[in-house]
Amino acid sequence: MESPTKDILIRDIAKYGGETVTIKGWVYNRRNSGKKLAFLQLRDGSGTIQGVAHVNEMPEEEFQSAAAVTTESSAIVIGVVKEDKRAPSGFELTVTGFELVGEGSNDYPIQPKEHGVDFLLDRRHLWFRTERQRAILRLRDRTIFYLRDFFNKDGFTCIDSPIITGSACEGTSTLFELDYFGRPAYLSQSGQLYVEPACMALGSVYCFGPTFRAEKSFTRRHLTEFWMLEPEVAWQTQDGNIDLQSRMIKSVVGRILENDAELIEQIHARQGEDSGEETAEEVISRLEKARDEKFIRLTYDEALKELERLGEPLTWGDDFGAPHETKLTEEYGVPVFVERWPAKIKAFYMQPDPDDDTYVQCDDLIASGGYGEVIGGSIRIHDSELLLKRIDEHKLDRRAFQWYLDIREYGTVPHGGFGLGLERLVQWLGGVHHIRETIPFPRTIKRLEP
Ligand code: 4AD
Ligand code: MG
Repeated sequence: MESPTKDILIRDIAKYGGETVTIKGWVYNRRNSGKKLAFLQLRDGSGTIQGVAHVNEMPEEEFQSAAAVTTESSAIVIGVVKEDKRAPSGFELTVTGFELVGEGSNDYPIQPKEHGVDFLLDRRHLWFRTERQRAILRLRDRTIFYLRDFFNKDGFTCIDSPIITGSACEGTSTLFELDYFGRPAYLSQSGQLYVEPACMALGSVYCFGPTFRAEKSFTRRHLTEFWMLEPEVAWQTQDGNIDLQSRMIKSVVGRILENDAELIEQIHARQGEDSGEETAEEVISRLEKARDEKFIRLTYDEALKELERLGEPLTWGDDFGAPHETKLTEEYGVPVFVERWPAKIKAFYMQPDPDDDTYVQCDDLIASGGYGEVIGGSIRIHDSELLLKRIDEHKLDRRAFQWYLDIREYGTVPHGGFGLGLERLVQWLGGVHHIRETIPFPRTIKRLEP
């Protein structure tokens, strides 16, 4: 087929009104009307458009091929761009040429009907092509871009931490162990131990990469492989750490609302009534509140009193469960920082509270709308003797932490940071009920393929 015209992307269609163009993409749906007319729904990754193929407008053979094309076939389509007020993009394509490239199938596994989630996850490689999944993947990409941009503008340096490590950061119960040439090693649970030395060299740093937890939890918030962004700042204070977290979240939310609200619409466009999800309007108004209003700060003890009052009591020293997190944020409608937790339920590296060392200087940020903890942060112990004591109390191997203790031996300073779970943030930003849709290829206890 001759293709004398320009290859264009569907997203640029408005620039080509009246012109003949070439679109390379996939036919995600087709409907014929009689023997002479076929409507092709085309997608090219940048957008979607309807192509109208009429036998009089194109070579007979090419029309026959278009009129018989199967679902998800790839094709090169030539046509004239026509303005059409009823079309979602405002344009449609009068097809003048059609070349089938890769045959699809009328038995394409994913049909526009309800499929069970396991069925879809087994076909994750194809599920990507649906509007909702494309929108979630884009939202994830935009979120990463805005986060990196925020830290770049705030003067942070990105430091990559290793994935294969010799030391446990977040307790020994969720480690994935490897045989590293005859000695044990682990997949990293957190890059924190490595950004701590880096902040002593560069001031403000962050790492961003995959982290791993052998979590035996089947919840809508747990993956075994997830991405974490972990800033670390020399001379950091508890108030400074909270302020950084709050500014970061507000900055990302503001930019998503400004530039990407249509992704939220697309995520929720075909929502069933019993999906259990918020509507796009509800997601947007929740995000507007987070952008415009101050986040709440409570100590753990204050949160316990609130929970008692709200009818979801908790014993001092217990960690929050999903119902507690939901209750607290329902009450305020904005994200809530819970600070100053009992030392005994937090990690070994957290700095004791200056007034009472049964508590530590730390925070969890609980997202609004029932999405749970999105951030865990703290000030770190900077005294090497105290840190050594904690390592022993937690029955960790001193030798594996020698280098980590070493940074406390040479010009130690108070410092602190936090870990933001990317997929939990994307869940909250998009109003996505289950975390497994927010990562391209989710890994959970039972899922390793595709
Ligand atoms: O609260 P966590 O365990 O904190 C740390 O790992 C610190 N070392 C971070 C730091 O201070 N640099 O994890 C941080 C965040 C959680 O708040 C949550 O958003 C996410 O990581 N997260 C998970 N996300 C998905 N699946 C899991 N299994 C997760 N575990 C933690
Ligand atoms: Mg945590």
